Amino acid sequence: CGIIGYCGPRPAAEVLLDGLKRLEYRGYDSAGICVDGEDGGLHTYKRTGKIADLRAIVPDDAAGGWGIGHTRWATHGEVNDINAHPHSDDTGKVTLVHNGIIENYIPLKERLIADGHRFVSDTDSEVIAHLIADLYQGDLEKAVREAIFLLKGTYGIAVVHADEPGKVVGARNGSPLVVGVGEGEMFLASDVTPMLAYTKQVIYLNDGEMVSITRDGHVTSDSSERRITKEVHEIGWELEQIEKHGFPFFMEKEIHEQPASVERAISGRINLDGATGHLGGLNMSARDLLGVDNVGIVAAGTSYYAGMVGAYLLESVARIKSSAELSSEVRYKNPIVTPGSLYFAVSQSGETIDTLYALRELQRKGGKVLGVCNVVGSTIARESDGGVYIHSGPEIAVASTKAFTSQISVFYIFTLLMARMRHMSWEAGIDFAKALKHIPSQIETILGQTEPIRRLAKKYARYQNFLFLGRGINYPVAMEGALKLKEISYIHAEGYSAAEIKHGPIALINEQTPSLFLVSDDSLREKVITSMKEVKARRGRVIAVAVEGDEEVADIADDYLYIPHTEELMYPFLMVVPLQLFAYYCALELGRNVDQPRNLAKSVTVE
Ligand code: G6P
Repeated sequence: CGIIGYCGPRPAAEVLLDGLKRLEYRGYDSAGICVDGEDGGLHTYKRTGKIADLRAIVPDDAAGGWGIGHTRWATHGEVNDINAHPHSDDTGKVTLVHNGIIENYIPLKERLIADGHRFVSDTDSEVIAHLIADLYQGDLEKAVREAIFLLKGTYGIAVVHADEPGKVVGARNGSPLVVGVGEGEMFLASDVTPMLAYTKQVIYLNDGEMVSITRDGHVTSDSSERRITKEVHEIGWELEQIEKHGFPFFMEKEIHEQPASVERAISGRINLDGATGHLGGLNMSARDLLGVDNVGIVAAGTSYYAGMVGAYLLESVARIKSSAELSSEVRYKNPIVTPGSLYFAVSQSGETIDTLYALRELQRKGGKVLGVCNVVGSTIARESDGGVYIHSGPEIAVASTKAFTSQISVFYIFTLLMARMRHMSWEAGIDFAKALKHIPSQIETILGQTEPIRRLAKKYARYQNFLFLGRGINYPVAMEGALKLKEISYIHAEGYSAAEIKHGPIALINEQTPSLFLVSDDSLREKVITSMKEVKARRGRVIAVAVEGDEEVADIADDYLYIPHTEELMYPFLMVVPLQLFAYYCALELGRNVDQPRNLAKSVTVE
């Protein structure tokens, strides 16, 4: 979910609706705002659907100077108008928006009902409004503080009270909240994107902290009610980076940004003289790095597949035992942390709660965790013990593309650094670095020839099941390709190691289930070709992404796409781009809403 609050001279409804549009990628089941009206009362407008649908029910003269808003990704309670936020207590005086999950809402609700409160929604969030109203004695901050003391779970909230006009109170625990400091106006939101049009000065709240904003300023306090002065940061993003610039969808724009975003992820980080990598933010000496004998990468979704590429590289090239694991699973498996272990928490948003919780659990066990994040100032970036920003610029489309290629860029650099400290010769380091430096222009080449990919998508978009198959370092890329296709086109796709199909998935093969093979010209090529033949022998259709000039593969496959040649381990960059485009064009062909696929959200801040 995304939340927002505003106090200032502008028409609040406009600021909130525009801001929610920016936050919509965090959830888009339903949305709502609450603003003060001419009559001095609070007015809530909310409904299922997108922000555009909400805009249609907000009257033009809803021109208050303060208010709150929400865009929802449902957790408790189905998607309907009543469950949409904001929520109020039964007097209608306390109104709030909430991002997170309140785990103990049932006993709280029962107690409040026994005290005479009447609930209208099925949400956990409504409980907080009633609780605050119950505790309110003329001081909203105090009531909010007492209420959150009783909550178990995660929350980022923004609260208003009809008797305290011009004020929005925010609190966070586990769900992000950023304060925007303008001139004569103040903002509160789940991330910086809704504020970019107005201010670049922001304050990041930590868990347990609260803020109260009015148009004239803000007051922040910590969990022991002490007033604190928080550092004001300058946002590095520009407003124009969150515009579409003529592309029909953000996803297409972001795919096309990859030559530049990969360039940014590696620039200044390769030392060609020394044939090594340089990552300033690790907070580790060369001696510390030399002591690392085990790397664990934790992440979710696309970031997890990037982590799998990273683990493969580190183990095969730097010769360090490495693995990638789903952050949601690591947290609960009582992981073993050894003195030589080093961890990476990979997260585009830096807010994914599964990954944040895994980071905290590893730290509690004495683990050193580095963040690989895109969003500067995000919770994971701040809580990690050091790390690397991928500098992709804002990624708005729910399906992640440019973040993946930048995340793996960081692992290529880190691998070069670690390998050169161990077994890699200067010559081998130079070859690795040069191949990496060449990648942005090779991605550019692929992006310059999208027509064959579009044709392929036209031909295959109506198949209902796909297998994506690769081996070695391309195996996680096959998984990522399958994920892209399911996420935005809703075509069922499975990513597998090509070797593994004979252990089960081959049972699915028939004329209606195409297999997309990733065939690079490496030591596993022959084995991938064998798998292709096994599929062909069972009348399966084969699509291949192969290296330019590979006629053998072109002959076997029903359809093929060529990519440029690179070094054996660099193929993930060049393999993933056609898969992103394939998924994109299939989704277009099927008329899907590419940037906002059903049921998904970009930044999942609940467990
Ligand atoms: C969500 C998104 C995915 C993303 C995953 C991890 O599920 O829909 O696209 O890969 O979260 O996000 P993160 O911000 O941690 O990389």
